[in-house]
Amino acid sequence: MTASTATDLDFLVRKDDLKTARFAAAPSPGEIALDDGQVLLRVDKFAFTSNNVTYAAFGDAMQYWQFFPAPEGWGRIPVWGFGDVIASKSDAAKLGERFYGYFPMSSHLVVRPERASEAGFFDGAAHRKALHPVYNQYVRTTTDPGYDPTREAEQMLLRPLFITSFLIDDFLADNGFFGATSVVLSSASSKTAYGTAFLLHRRKAVEVVGLTSPSNVAFVERLGCYDRVVAYDAVGSLPSGTPTVYVDMAGSGPVRASVHRHFGESLKYSCAVGGTHWDALGGGRDLPGPKPTLFFAPAQIKKRNADWGAAALQQRIAEAWRAFLGPVSGWMRAVEARGPEAVERVYRDMLDGRAKPDEGHILSLAG
Ligand SMILES: NC(=O)c1ccc[n+]([C@@H]2O[C@H](COP(=O)([O-])OP(=O)(O)OC[C@H]3O[C@@H](n4cnc5c(N)ncnc54)[C@H](OP(=O)(O)O)[C@@H]3O)[C@@H](O)[C@H]2O)c1
Repeated sequence: MTASTATDLDFLVRKDDLKTARFAAAPSPGEIALDDGQVLLRVDKFAFTSNNVTYAAFGDAMQYWQFFPAPEGWGRIPVWGFGDVIASKSDAAKLGERFYGYFPMSSHLVVRPERASEAGFFDGAAHRKALHPVYNQYVRTTTDPGYDPTREAEQMLLRPLFITSFLIDDFLADNGFFGATSVVLSSASSKTAYGTAFLLHRRKAVEVVGLTSPSNVAFVERLGCYDRVVAYDAVGSLPSGTPTVYVDMAGSGPVRASVHRHFGESLKYSCAVGGTHWDALGGGRDLPGPKPTLFFAPAQIKKRNADWGAAALQQRIAEAWRAFLGPVSGWMRAVEARGPEAVERVYRDMLDGRAKPDEGHILSLAG
């Protein structure tokens, strides 16, 4: 069976060359024999944003390739989405139940539920044991208080990103903005930057500055939560003496260098969050100002779980999420497409920087 005629597929990318991608035929549900304790999920829908390209770009360094094993040299990119139980040999998940979680870009996924509760379960597959639990959790839609069947697109596209936005905003405020009065965010048009800017803006404690591509300046200005929006080639127009924090979603070496050189000692903290400019990553050594520090979301979760308790943290995230859902409806259009051609087109558009910032892509390889 060739990939083009198969109905059950895995999308694979070369780990050492993300521009090389292919589909591989995957076993059909009838060919998958479950062991006791296993569950077969049909991957109904998933979101695809720059964040998923970053999972691939950092696949080895951050262990993202390890979630869904692939043939030697190839990787299966993780995505956030919804899956339906189509066969089960576990009491943790019944036929027809729908779960939200981390999936491969594939038609199906076999999991082995562990630590099951009303809320869901964790995949206990051997190859996932050492990986962070936040990515191994599958949430039962019928008991999830945050689930709304009419807003699945927003959940897949934005919820994982917004949690990071919440934690960045909280981390900066928790540290008194490192003495800064201005926060500059790169890839200001990204969903993660928007969520962060939205939260920073409502604090009214710092000026929120967006850095973006010239073609995205007007879009970012319309979001209404950046006090100032500047194209990447105009960093020099910002007041260099203002104590500033840099929140870097782009990961671009040249942009980072221009920000550090421009602000110099006025740069109080340099927070490396993402790598939307995945083909220009790097830089940070021998730059003026503070050493860029990788933002590690689980560390802030751990701190707030200790400070506030897990329930209070979740409550605060939920409150912020509800506030964000209002303005979000106005700017993001969910674009749904199915099948291998659509998946590859969206992947390549994202890789080459052609994706539009006001679109959120929802994809499916399920037959
Ligand atoms: N550390 C963490 O825990 C964590 C968690 C969530 C997200 N993140 C990171 O945050 C970043 C944003 O993710 P997202 O999903 O929110 O992004 P998104 O909404 O898909 O971002 C789209 C924007 O990213 C830039 N971009 C996308 N592809 C590009 C390309 N090939 N070349 C150059 N620019 C490109 C463009 O913005 P501009 O024109 O404005 O540059 C584009 O408008 C990602 O790198 C992601 O990994 C990190």
